[in-house]
Parts: sequence; structure tokens; C-alpha cells
Amino acid sequence: MAAAVKDTMNSMLSAMHLGGDMKEETCHPPSENDYNNLRERFEKAKQGHVFNFYDDLQPEEKGFLYQQLEPVDPNHINEITEKALHPPKPKDDEEGPKLEQLPESAQCSVIDSKQDDLDKWYEGGLKLVADNQVAVVLMAGGQGTRLGSSAPKGCFDIGLQSKKSLFQLQAERIRKLEQLARKAHSKEEVTVPWYIMTSGPTRKPTQDYFEEHKYFGLNRNNVVFFEQGVLPCVSMEGKILLESKSKVATAPDGNGGLYSALINNGIVLDMEKRGIKHIHAYCVDNCLVRVADPTFIGFSASKDVDIATKVVRKRNAKESVGLILQKDGKPDVVEYSEIDSASAEAKDPKDSKLLKFRAANIVNHYYSYRFLESIPDWAHKLPHHVAKKKIPCVDEQGNAVKPEKPNGIKLEQFVFDCFPFLPMDKFACMEVKREDEFSPLKNAKGTGEDDPDTSRRDILAQGVRFLREAGATVTSDDPEADVEVSPLISYGGEGLEFLKGKEIKAPAVIEKQ
Ligand code: UTP
Repeated sequence: MAAAVKDTMNSMLSAMHLGGDMKEETCHPPSENDYNNLRERFEKAKQGHVFNFYDDLQPEEKGFLYQQLEPVDPNHINEITEKALHPPKPKDDEEGPKLEQLPESAQCSVIDSKQDDLDKWYEGGLKLVADNQVAVVLMAGGQGTRLGSSAPKGCFDIGLQSKKSLFQLQAERIRKLEQLARKAHSKEEVTVPWYIMTSGPTRKPTQDYFEEHKYFGLNRNNVVFFEQGVLPCVSMEGKILLESKSKVATAPDGNGGLYSALINNGIVLDMEKRGIKHIHAYCVDNCLVRVADPTFIGFSASKDVDIATKVVRKRNAKESVGLILQKDGKPDVVEYSEIDSASAEAKDPKDSKLLKFRAANIVNHYYSYRFLESIPDWAHKLPHHVAKKKIPCVDEQGNAVKPEKPNGIKLEQFVFDCFPFLPMDKFACMEVKREDEFSPLKNAKGTGEDDPDTSRRDILAQGVRFLREAGATVTSDDPEADVEVSPLISYGGEGLEFLKGKEIKAPAVIEKQ
């Protein structure tokens, strides 16, 4: 793409976002003229109330408010809010969208693929890793409100004996993968760059955490932090909310903010410089994630697709998961709330023991570099969604309000909303085993579902499976005791042959040979 086009698109994308790292004490007040122009712009868009307290502010507070609002186009905020609040509804006489399974050619399942195919994909993927063509993008900008920890989710200790956090488990899988690729292809240096997307609230604590832990043994030049955009929060009526008299209430723009953030922060450019061609993107909260999984990379690259997704089998017709399928002939995700019960319960015509729509979305994606390079062509088409939240703000008199029920809206983009932009032959899907690859940390301890205890349980159960598959026996006096296998010793169950015929008494941590 021509550089000039890129520049224009970049400034358009960034105009949607507010700057995040400004300090109030260093802000200078705007000139009278600049202030009047900005105020007029907001008044014309019927958002002039954001200046209601301006005359009471100290000079640096005036500068602070000005600098937050100056990059915002209030008409754009009005437009996306209106569209998010009132998405087009199908007319009464209109049929709903046509939902179909993905075509067979776009799917595979590690559960029933031939071993030959699995080996071929793994080896192909590992070769691409060895050729330094693979990078990893981590989405870690969420605020983890349900988990309720004040630190970013990736720092969370899920209660393993080793005390490893989610970030550490992921870092060690990257290190192990680099080592496997180096060894398999006799390379001196193999690098899988790790691009970590944070947001205003998670940036500093995340970076500090990596510094404190010396990047978990990774080369710090290959761990690149970048920040997603934020958007103003609005009232239920679409008015921009103020957190204080001089501060706009803002929230990260959703995991779909990934795309504009990859362009605005020069990440796609960095990938180009490093010669990256294949990218794995995933969510921070999945303790079992196979970071840059060679089998997945090899499968996706062999199909020459632009996006591939990993899915797990939906447990039953009622499970609340998004489904990956074909909607009106395009790849798409349909939320559980959007699917009627007849479709949710329909059986697969080829196997009546299985649900027809069973490909549960786990937000675990492959992207081709060429697709990420095209972000400026389509990012502006991504819709915004409404998340009704309790948003601390000031009322009309300027008094601070801590609401007890949702009082406003966060505008969020979803990372999968670009799937329908692709033709079906540029999209693929790989079904993987849930017990091996998906256990998200969403809720606080004690919830019993997707909480720290289920994360810990699933990591440890996998450790035991790995050891048994390698021919070891695991014994224990305590039925609760389990075994932890360090990612530094095994990425996905390989390399444990030295334990064949050995007895391992749980609890234990297998950290070294
Ligand atoms: P969730 O939607 O589960 O949100 O994010 P969350 O922040 O982890 O938790 P709650 O909903 O506040 O309790 C799924 C993934 O998307 C990332 C999260 O960090 C997580 O990896 N995400 C979410 C972002 O990177 N940015 C966002 O704005 C939102």
C-alpha cells in the first residue's frame, strides 16, 4: 500500500481514540481562541455539556480537559453511539440470516484428523517458526472486572505450586517453542516476537511486572508493549460522561480495538521489518493457550487463508458460547443469545451424536501478515457494541456519583467482527480438544466456573495426562494432589520420554530433566 494512503488512513483511525498517558500537572491551558473553537465543535454536536465546569477549573485542569477532548470528533461519537444503540432490525416480513456450518474444506479437527496430517502441519509450522516468520499478539487490555483483581489479569497467580502467573506460563511456552524450532532446524537464533496489547489501566502494571521478572528469560527487545485506544463512555441517552469536572470518563475500545492499535502503534510496520508472515493472536486469560502452536500455524499457512480460528466442541445445546459458522455465505460468529433454540439443538446431518453448530469460539486466531497490512482498508467498518456498565461520573451539579446499577454505556468493538469481510475461501477453522487448549479465567475464586480453581485444575490435569502418555505412573496419597509440568520442559506433551516407566508421586513439579 502506498505510504500516503497509509498515513491518511492512520490519522483517520487515530481520530477515533483519546490519548491515554497524559499527566494533568504538565498540561497548559489552551488559548481563548482554541478553547472557543473546540467548545463550538462540541456544542454543535449537542455535547457542549462537557465544558459545564470549565470556568471553575485551575489552568492545568483546563489544559487537561482540552487535551482529552481535542482529538475527539463528537459527531463520530454520536454516530457510533446511535448505530450501537439502534442496530438495524430485520423487517417483520424479512427472513433471518441463513446459518450454515462452515464448508468442509474450511475445517479440520485434531480429534479425528489423520496423524499424517497433524505431523505435516506441526512440522510445517515449526519450520516457519524456525525461519523467524511467526509472531504472537496477546490481547491483554481488558479490565478483568469479573475476576476482581486490581493487577492485570496476566499477573494473576492461579495457585500452582510453582506460583507461575498466566504471563509466565505464556512466556515459557514461547521460550520452549523457540528452543524446539532451533533444535529441529539447527538454527543459531530463533525469535518469536511477542506483541502485548495493553490499555490505559493495564499498561504500566503490565510493563512493570515484566521488568520485575526480567521478561521471564525472553529477550526484552522481542517483547513489544502497545496500547489500545479508549473511547468516551456515554450516558444511556448518548451524552459523553465526565469522570470528574476535568476528566472524561473513558474505557478501552474492546478487543476489536486490536486492529487500529496494531496500525497506530507501528506494530504492523515492526512485523514487516522483522519479516513476519504468520501471526497467532489470543486472550490473556486462557491458561492452556498453545502460544504460536506450530500445528495451527502449519494448518493455516498450508490453506493460505487470511484468518483461521481455533474452536472447541460446544458442550451441549444450552452452553452460552459464541459459535463460528457461515452466516449468509460469509464466515461469522453468532452469539448464543442470537441463535434460536431449533438451530442450537439441531444435530449434525453427518453424525447425529453431534450438534450441527458446535464450533465454540475461544478467541484464538491465526492472521496472515497480508491481512493485517490491509487493516486501514476496513477497520472503519467495524461496528461498535453497547456494554451497559456502572460508570463513576459527576452529575449536573458536579457531584461525584458512584452508581449502584448501570448508568451508562461503554462502546466496544469485537475482534471477530471482521470475519465477514473475508470470502469463505480465505477463512478456516480448527477444532481442538478443550481439555488441552481452553480454560479461561473470568470469575473470582469460589464461583466454580472459569475461576482460578478451574484454571489450576485444568493445568494440573494436563500435567498428569502428559506424564501418563509418556509412560510414567502418577501416584498419590492425596486424591487432590496433581502434577505440574513446566512449559520449559514440554510445550505440548513432547520431550517427556525420559520419564517412561518412572513413578511420580504427586504433588510434584516437573521443571528440569
Ligand atoms: P473479556 O471480554 O473477557 O474481558 O476479554 P475482561 O477484561 O478479561 O474481563 P471482564 O469482562 O471485565 O470481567 C477477553 C479478552 O479480551 C481482552 C482481555 O484482556 C481478554 O484477554 N480485551 C478485552 C482487551 O484486550 N481489550 C478490551 O478492551 C477488552
